[in-house]
Amino acid sequence: MSFKDEILRRRTFGVIAHPDAGKTTLTEKLLLFGGAIQEAGAVKSNKIKKGATSDFMEIERQRGISVATSVLAFNYKDKKINILDTPGHKDFAEDTFRTLTAVDSVIVVIDVAKGVEEQTEKLVEVCRMRNIPMIVFINKLDREGKDAFDLLDEVEQKLGLKVTPLSFPIGMGYDFQGIYNIWEKNINLFSEDSRKNIEDVVTVDNLEDEALDKLVGEKPANKLREELELVAEVYPDFDREAYINGDLQPVFFGSALNNFGVRELLDCFIEIAPSPRAKESDTRLVQPDENKFAGFVFKIHANMDPKHRDRLAFIKIVSGTFERNKPYMHVRLGKKLKFSSPNAFFAEKKEIVDISYAGDIVGLHDTGNFKIGDTLTEGELMNFKGIPSFSPEHFRYVNNADPMKSKQLEKGIDQLMDEGVAQLFTLELNGRKIIGTVGALQYEVIQYRLEHEYGAKCTYENFPAFKACWVRPEDVKNEEFAEFKRVKQKFLAKDKSGQLVFLADSEFSIQMTQSKYPTVKLDYVSERI
Ligand code: G4P
Repeated sequence: MSFKDEILRRRTFGVIAHPDAGKTTLTEKLLLFGGAIQEAGAVKSNKIKKGATSDFMEIERQRGISVATSVLAFNYKDKKINILDTPGHKDFAEDTFRTLTAVDSVIVVIDVAKGVEEQTEKLVEVCRMRNIPMIVFINKLDREGKDAFDLLDEVEQKLGLKVTPLSFPIGMGYDFQGIYNIWEKNINLFSEDSRKNIEDVVTVDNLEDEALDKLVGEKPANKLREELELVAEVYPDFDREAYINGDLQPVFFGSALNNFGVRELLDCFIEIAPSPRAKESDTRLVQPDENKFAGFVFKIHANMDPKHRDRLAFIKIVSGTFERNKPYMHVRLGKKLKFSSPNAFFAEKKEIVDISYAGDIVGLHDTGNFKIGDTLTEGELMNFKGIPSFSPEHFRYVNNADPMKSKQLEKGIDQLMDEGVAQLFTLELNGRKIIGTVGALQYEVIQYRLEHEYGAKCTYENFPAFKACWVRPEDVKNEEFAEFKRVKQKFLAKDKSGQLVFLADSEFSIQMTQSKYPTVKLDYVSERI
């Protein structure tokens, strides 16, 4: 197969959902179709069970599993599918945001009874801002849920999407009979007896045909006809370009647990979802089929084995091919590095490979060279844009609890920050260190990992900040800026890359600052480049 065809057949995507909507179940069913796993239950849920805040074993277990399920790759028909795992737990949302910089499209899973939930809103907003193509899968149709039209309205309003259903349910819950596939124009009947993996696809060329009444009963058949008429009137026809541009989102209905509607989703997905897309760097737009390799780090994972504390850096290949033992330029460090054992992912395993193509993810063993957002090339000096660093919501001073281990503590904090577990700020006034996190759970993870991986101990102390605002531009000559720095001295810090940050204690204080010093620009997001 030619180099270009290899790239064109790749589909790299993420499944996003509010916890419990069925992300793990759907992922597992997709893998079953790809023949990548043989039985249900092979993909372990990486979610942190409720009440796990103080259960460190649970955190370790979760980390172990999330290494294994970070990338799930398999072949389906003539396509190579790469599913990137996105943690649903809100305390790990930042990890998910970063993973979304490495996907070419997403599938959004929504629970038919719960509708659009909080985490779905946040994640979809990020995808919308980046025009990532999205397909919506409405799950758990075997249960009583919301009316299909109401749900489509909710998706449009709460998520700000423009949808078009490509399948439509016939009944729901106890009355669930199956799904009419608008895309393929056939009916998939749900088997009442088994409620298992039995699928019965009936082609219906003409909806007016009496065969439909015989299949599902006269009343449901008429209801379906009316509903499909309404669908045709209310929703736009599917338009692939609009979908690819992020302007239109096709919707499927089904039940992941019952493996129902999943094949339809997958078959349509491989047909319409984009192959690897071009990515903007700070100097130019990089096309996937360029001959030269370029890629970036979107995730770093510490090794679970305490004897081998090296890390695995996950690289999304943006262009060309990544080859084993070939020297690549680490742009930030300005030096060439060779990798003798790059890992590729297959199902839930990883293995060493000689060559990977644009769209693929490779895992590189790292002894501390990488941080999130780093770019690798064949020599070109450019950096990929768009790895965001969001304002933390929690802030605590970090204190050394074991003076004999200050080096270890420093190293541990440094490496954990490079992994993107949390963000470190150093106060301008006295050099004290503050750790900012998206969720409170991270503090326990950090404390636990510092002790178990680096032999260091820390304690925390509250720092009364509400948000971190990145200050830009840093114009030293500007008098207003000098005044701002003088007055807010106690709340100013530097982040790890040396950027100035204002640790505001309230929304009010941000507003006051903005009106008093209008030329000092404050930003909740820092885009690492
Ligand atoms: P998540 O990764 O999005 O957090 O969700 P996950 O797949 O773990 O699914 C959450 C729960 O919803 C699981 O039940 C799962 O079995 C169930 N589920 C998923 N898809 C369907 C569906 O189509 N119909 C129905 N009725 N249930 C579905 P659980 O009891 O929380 O977990 P488990 O003990 O079954 O693993």
